[in-house]
Amino acid sequence: MLLNLFLNAMDAMGERGGTLGVRTSMFTKQEGNAWVQIEVEDTGHGISPANLDHIFDPFFTTKHESKDNEGTGLGLSIAHQIIREHQGNIHVRSTEGVGTTFRLCLPSIA
Ligand SMILES: Nc1ncnc2c1ncn2[C@@H]1O[C@H](COP(=O)(O)OP(=O)(O)O)[C@@H](O)[C@H]1O
Ligand SMILES: [Mg+2]
Repeated sequence: MLLNLFLNAMDAMGERGGTLGVRTSMFTKQEGNAWVQIEVEDTGHGISPANLDHIFDPFFTTKHESKDNEGTGLGLSIAHQIIREHQGNIHVRSTEGVGTTFRLCLPSIA
């Protein structure tokens, strides 16, 4: 799942390069349950507001029209499914021309 996010980040930064950041933290929700948060942040081309609504859809890809590595459009839909199966959640925020951050939250079993 993380590898999928890293490969997407690399595609978005392309030959220009950039920064791929990974930040982890733990927090406790009000009801007392511990959660793990993983943020994967890139300085790539970003995602348009129109595309943001579709990136988790199976087979949605913008990589046919671009010079990015050919995509299947399955990476994020599978990542989303894995997260859901672990009772977690995944959020994305993105600004075109600036970059993208995916934030995954998973319940900690510790
Ligand atoms: N880090 C990112 N930066 C910019 N666009 C992204 C990023 N991650 C995903 N996307 C967009 O979401 C689409 C779907 O991603 P994914 O499901 O992994 O399929 P694929 O990588 O095969 O295209 C990508 O085609 C791309 O348009
Ligand atoms: Mg992908």
